[in-house]
Amino acid sequence: MIQSKDISFALGAEIFGIDLASPLVPNLVQEIHQIFLDRLVLVFRNQILTPKQQVRFARYFGSVVPYPFLKGLECCPEVLEVITQPEDGVNFGGGWHTDTPYLEIPSLGSVLYAKELPPVGGDTLFSNMYMAYNTLDKKTRSFLDGQLGVHSANKRYAKPADRSQIYGQIKQAENKENMSTENYHPIIRTHCETNRKSLFVSSLHTTTIKGMKEKAADIMLTRLYEHQARDAFTCRVVWEPDTLVIWDNRCVLHNALFDYAGYKRRMHRVTIEGDRPT
Ligand code: SIN
Repeated sequence: MIQSKDISFALGAEIFGIDLASPLVPNLVQEIHQIFLDRLVLVFRNQILTPKQQVRFARYFGSVVPYPFLKGLECCPEVLEVITQPEDGVNFGGGWHTDTPYLEIPSLGSVLYAKELPPVGGDTLFSNMYMAYNTLDKKTRSFLDGQLGVHSANKRYAKPADRSQIYGQIKQAENKENMSTENYHPIIRTHCETNRKSLFVSSLHTTTIKGMKEKAADIMLTRLYEHQARDAFTCRVVWEPDTLVIWDNRCVLHNALFDYAGYKRRMHRVTIEGDRPT
């Protein structure tokens, strides 16, 4: 039996007594996987891991895929080094979002490992989208049922004024073709493993609702963005060096706080391949 402690009422669990540097036996993987499906965000402290060991852990959950816009590490291309430099005006992953919803096949989950942290701050917030869906009023739920959200990789950077602020790493590696990637997916998504429904939109990437008038879509999306970030749905992960976190992008949003300007934050991220949302 794995020892774990919930992080908040809504989601998240800290897992104790497991060393991810060693391969895990199938029973243990199964148990971790069940806690992942129940708690959506898992935190493992004091893990001394090589990039390859991080990838091995991610592979217990599915295939590993590259991040579309940035190159991975030389020694292990599956691992993306996410760096906010002291001079950066914007951080990577700031604002509520799920990872890569603008792809035809958005990611299942992400595995993030803390390499270098600011002296304080740089926490990550997570929000439970099953709860967001379950607490919508009946009328909104039935209105949204069958509607498609449009997700773009370029939303945040669409206005020329914002481009000067773009996070340094993206600026260097920007691939214009990829950055214009856009796809649409059901706003009410059914999780392929738990069969539970969740709300699948986010302020960072969702641009509109397919087929709806722009203004009406904006009003509805703004309402949903406020709703999905309610405190009652969230948990907060306070990073320590060598903390590893995995989250389920199919039913969780996250938001990397940028409250440490002038300091460096360096993380290693692995993306797990998902399924086509239904
Ligand atoms: C991300 O959005 O993948 C980054 C999250 C973080 O750095 O906390």
